[in-house]
Amino acid sequence: MKAWVITNYGGPEVLEPMEIEKPQPAAGKMLIEVHYVALNPYDYKLRNGAAKMMMGNKFPKVLGGDFSGKIIAVNDDESNFKPGQMVYGFANIFMKEQGCLAEYISIAPKYVRLLPSEINEIDASAVTSAGLTALSGISKCGGLSDKRVLVNGATGGVGHLATKFLIAKGAIVTAVCSTKNIEVAEAMNVARVIDYRKEEVLKDGEMYDVVFDAAAKFSFSQAKAKLNTSGIYCSTEESIKAFLASMISKIGAAKKMYLSGFRGSQEDFDEMETLMINNGVKPIINHTFSFSEVDKAFQLLEAGGTNGKIVIKVKDNE
Ligand SMILES: NC(=O)c1ccc[n+]([C@@H]2O[C@H](COP(=O)([O-])OP(=O)(O)OC[C@H]3O[C@@H](n4cnc5c(N)ncnc54)[C@H](OP(=O)(O)O)[C@@H]3O)[C@@H](O)[C@H]2O)c1
Repeated sequence: MKAWVITNYGGPEVLEPMEIEKPQPAAGKMLIEVHYVALNPYDYKLRNGAAKMMMGNKFPKVLGGDFSGKIIAVNDDESNFKPGQMVYGFANIFMKEQGCLAEYISIAPKYVRLLPSEINEIDASAVTSAGLTALSGISKCGGLSDKRVLVNGATGGVGHLATKFLIAKGAIVTAVCSTKNIEVAEAMNVARVIDYRKEEVLKDGEMYDVVFDAAAKFSFSQAKAKLNTSGIYCSTEESIKAFLASMISKIGAAKKMYLSGFRGSQEDFDEMETLMINNGVKPIINHTFSFSEVDKAFQLLEAGGTNGKIVIKVKDNE
């Protein structure tokens, strides 16, 4: 089968198309024909070797976390999954699972969901990592109806889904983005847009109940200055410093910090599907690539400055 693999950790040059053996699902796994894959910043960070301790040194390695597709075979008599069903989910490449930038993937069911009939395959591929990352922080903020929320990085993969989820939950959102994404932010019906290239977000006089830092650009002490009493700062930052700051904030202080990271629980999937089906939340997908253009998709992702999600069409279901 065709796959995009890395032959070592490193820059764009280590990612290449390759013909590799079609996987056979081991006991407890299923074989999925991959239709769409969405990229996330972790894809190039993993290519660079950011998690090599966990991913090991066996090459070639197939990259790609978020996918949608069709079940071909299930090697588990007890499973509720059946061949022919449409699914979407996350391939746990961090834990040595095969990535989904391939025609087929053999995968454990933990992060695989049946595709609801109301959600299309492209949208489903686009939401798993970014949407569940956004929801993990949002779900820690309590009731959001009429709460004033600042979303930093509001047009990025996590940020635009956070913005849409927050608005669906009744929050009044101020979106922060760069000049070229202002129209994208306005189209999400936010209350206000701040261009971080022209205004100093932290010096603006407004106060918020929640600061959702999808871009992970603030520190907790910076965000605190923007928070009302008992306000909450949520950050996607993945560092020991951020972890410690969030732990310390829970000891006594009125203003709290929570980390918004991927959990992938069935409750999070349920809630995300509800927000998509009942509240009409749709991911922004302005950039799609064919399977022969995965290297170009990575270039665009790594260059930054896009909006929403970048999706690769691996195979059409038609
Ligand atoms: N995607 C995931 O599954 C996931 C999971 C866990 C953690 N994270 C973390 O979450 C963060 C965002 O991920 P993503 O997938 O949303 O990435 P992304 O799609 O590349 O979006 C990044 C966003 O950050 C904005 N940004 C850049 N510099 C900024 C600044 N100085 N002030 C305000 N906004 C700024 C960009 O806006 P402009 O383009 O307008 O400049 C862009 O909208 C990353 O740090 C990532 O490591 C992501």
